[in-house]
Amino acid sequence: MATSLPTTPTGRSNIPRGKDLLNRQDLNKGTAFTHEERTEFGLHGLLPPQVETLDEQLVRAYEAYQRKEDDLERHIYLRALQDTNEVLFYRLLLDHIEEMMPIVYTPTVAVACEQFSHIYRRPRGLFISYPLRDSIPQLLRNRPNKDVDVIVVTDGERILGIGDQGAGGLGIPIGKLSLYTLIGGIRPERTLPIVLDVGTNNTERLNDPEYLGWRHERITGQAYFDFVDQFVQAVKQELPGTCLQWEDFATPHARPILTRYRDQLLTFNDDIQGTAAVALGAILGAVKVTGKSLKEQQIVMFGAGSAGIGVADGLRGAIQGEGLSEDEARSRFWVVDKGGLLHSGRKDLTAEQSVYAQPESRVSGWPRTSDGHIGLADVIGKIDATILIGLSTVAGAFSEPIVREIARKVERPIIFPLSNPTSKSEAHAADLIRWTDGRALVATGSPFAPVNHGGSKIQIAQCNNVYIFPAMGLGVAASGARRVAEPMMLAAARTLARNSPALKDPFASLLPPLTELRRVAAEIAFAVGIEAQKDGIAPKVREDELHQRVLDTQWTPAYTSLA
Ligand code: NAI
Repeated sequence: MATSLPTTPTGRSNIPRGKDLLNRQDLNKGTAFTHEERTEFGLHGLLPPQVETLDEQLVRAYEAYQRKEDDLERHIYLRALQDTNEVLFYRLLLDHIEEMMPIVYTPTVAVACEQFSHIYRRPRGLFISYPLRDSIPQLLRNRPNKDVDVIVVTDGERILGIGDQGAGGLGIPIGKLSLYTLIGGIRPERTLPIVLDVGTNNTERLNDPEYLGWRHERITGQAYFDFVDQFVQAVKQELPGTCLQWEDFATPHARPILTRYRDQLLTFNDDIQGTAAVALGAILGAVKVTGKSLKEQQIVMFGAGSAGIGVADGLRGAIQGEGLSEDEARSRFWVVDKGGLLHSGRKDLTAEQSVYAQPESRVSGWPRTSDGHIGLADVIGKIDATILIGLSTVAGAFSEPIVREIARKVERPIIFPLSNPTSKSEAHAADLIRWTDGRALVATGSPFAPVNHGGSKIQIAQCNNVYIFPAMGLGVAASGARRVAEPMMLAAARTLARNSPALKDPFASLLPPLTELRRVAAEIAFAVGIEAQKDGIAPKVREDELHQRVLDTQWTPAYTSLA
């Protein structure tokens, strides 16, 4: 028998009808629109007659995903789904987080940035190009949604390990904000990816006829910083209270930008601060496993670049938090770079590095290499190192003799080869476990498979910033914080450490599994909010109220009724 439809459907004024509704990725439910919704919004006939549940749609979406032949194709598929139906996209990601995170984010997103101009389909985020520098407030006003919790901005100059990608760098903010939503639960429509298109020095991009960015060499010097300043002032004016996260800027720009703006608005640099916080979280977890305190540690940092110094700064703050003076805390660090141990006799240190220079008198009789440096092996031979961290890009630098010497003097050495990619790792996880007879507490920068030792499988933690940034976004959004202060990063690291599975199981990873990330993010967000209140940079509310705000802010992908 034929079913008759109402002739004058009564759509709600703020919800579009028909094809326009199906084109709204935030409202579209596809085949899951109910009979009532199809009637109210004029969808009958535009959709196949079968009404499905989200779970049924997930089966088809996963089937389509699996049919794709390589990771870039899978990335393109997921991005298209994100632009079509956000609830379905995020539920699919949540259900397959371990399989799909490397597809929407690292490492596949690197290829997506390289290929940005070739795989471009639909607009997402904002392109703020240098030639339009006098209209930045207007460009920001063109954003798709009025209220924004988090902006991720890049200038595309230092994209992951693949360098300058110009406007194609926008792939990184897009991917990263997907994780802010997936894990932190920041509502998708309250995120805004931005690329500051200041040109590119990548000749392959410049010579590519399909390149979609501003075809010009990079703007540099004062003109560059003036442009960034115009952008920041426009954000302060148009989006006060929005968290502005800097992403993949080249080192000579990243630090000055952070230093200049960190006290002016709600902002942080994930490469610097997020990296330090996740490494600190893993170290604090490892130290807890040893049963000692952080202030008892002797820390050897191999690599004194932006990552090494950033991690050392975070650790130093945590040590001072345990009651040591600044000088006492500094004396615990033995930092080694290309020129050997950092000491007061060296004239080539930057201001940030000088903080870690040991007094020359303390190392005067130490062995030196033929070129006069005090090398890593010399330092390890002279002190009882308890923590060894590698952020040097020197593959194999943590050699067997060095590791055995540490393990000879310490029961549970903490050894973190953090350099990326795997080909640059200072050591392989399996070697570290073997050379220390399973006693080393290991975390790495790149992923390593579990290691078999003495009949057990030891899980290796990967220090991935994803443990921190989505939680930080949730924390500042829920608490209404006005700044991202260092104690908030420390609170995040401490909470991450408390969630270390290795505290309960000696063979477990030092960091939680990805499937636990949403729960841990909510806990971190709460700790961040409490810290922000203590620092006087977030409105004071009762603990139970803050807790509720975190839960209410963390969006879960599920359909809501429109009819
Ligand atoms: P960078 O180039 O700023 O610093 C490298 C440092 O290593 C410099 O201090 C340099 O003097 C030192 N170094 C290089 N060769 C050396 C040698 N033969 N002996 C002793 N020291 C040497 O690099 P950046 O940005 O600090 O990154 C370093 C590494 O850390 C990279 O592999 C990067 O992928 C990795 N990283 C890992 C993160 C993680 O969470 N796993 C996060 C951020 C960076």
